[in-house]
Amino acid sequence: MLILLKSLWAIATEKGIKQAWYELRENIMYDVVNGTDTARWLPLDDYTDNELDMTTAIRYQATHTCTIKDVLSVIPRMLRVPVADVTLLDLGSGKGKVLCEAYRHGLRDCIGIEFNSDLCAIAQSNFRAVNANVFDRVRVHQGDCILYLRDTAIADNTIVFMYNPFTGSTMTEVLAILFMRKFKGSKFIIAYVNPEQADEVEKLFTPLGSTVSSGGQITNFYH
Ligand SMILES: C[S@@+](CC[C@H](N)C(=O)[O-])C[C@H]1O[C@@H](n2cnc3c(N)ncnc32)[C@H](O)[C@@H]1O
Repeated sequence: MLILLKSLWAIATEKGIKQAWYELRENIMYDVVNGTDTARWLPLDDYTDNELDMTTAIRYQATHTCTIKDVLSVIPRMLRVPVADVTLLDLGSGKGKVLCEAYRHGLRDCIGIEFNSDLCAIAQSNFRAVNANVFDRVRVHQGDCILYLRDTAIADNTIVFMYNPFTGSTMTEVLAILFMRKFKGSKFIIAYVNPEQADEVEKLFTPLGSTVSSGGQITNFYH
């Protein structure tokens, strides 16, 4: 709790009271209500897996609760299928908050890819905290998104979710693989929160619209 208060104070001084209020309402309260550990950021300097190439990685930070709810509510309409037929693939899934909420929303399958082993372990304990059945509809794969996507098909009616997970060559390669999958007929939509690399995405995918959640996070949708 003390760590969270310290980080709230740091956000208030660095980014202002409004951002600190959003952090409290959208991230810290989520953990208070659910008994999870998602709100604490993990700076890249604290990543302990030495073999990881982190030149393109963005540190762990959770998507706001209201942004996740917004994405989950618009996607079935965009894919034109019931929620129970939708899969969510979170590229850079961190502590699994998006997967927990997708599970509770009733999605068919909720899959996370995360290369940091500490975050994967925390995600597993968060699944237990929200009573998500780990061996059934929700799981996290420890590994690099590029390797996962190269080896694994994307199920039809998938949300490829990204909360600004990486930049540079990783983003370029991930987008190239996704584009190949689309070319071969996979039916999926990209939901890209805090879309700092939107220009890159728009070279290969068609924008479907955008939402701004009540916590101020922007999500772009593409197919
Ligand atoms: C901004 S966080 C988003 C966390 C989560 N999606 C959420 O919204 O709560 C980005 C995550 O991507 C992970 N990441 C970055 N590059 C990665 C890569 N190449 N493969 C797998 N995970 C990666 C980071 O470790 C971090 O946990």
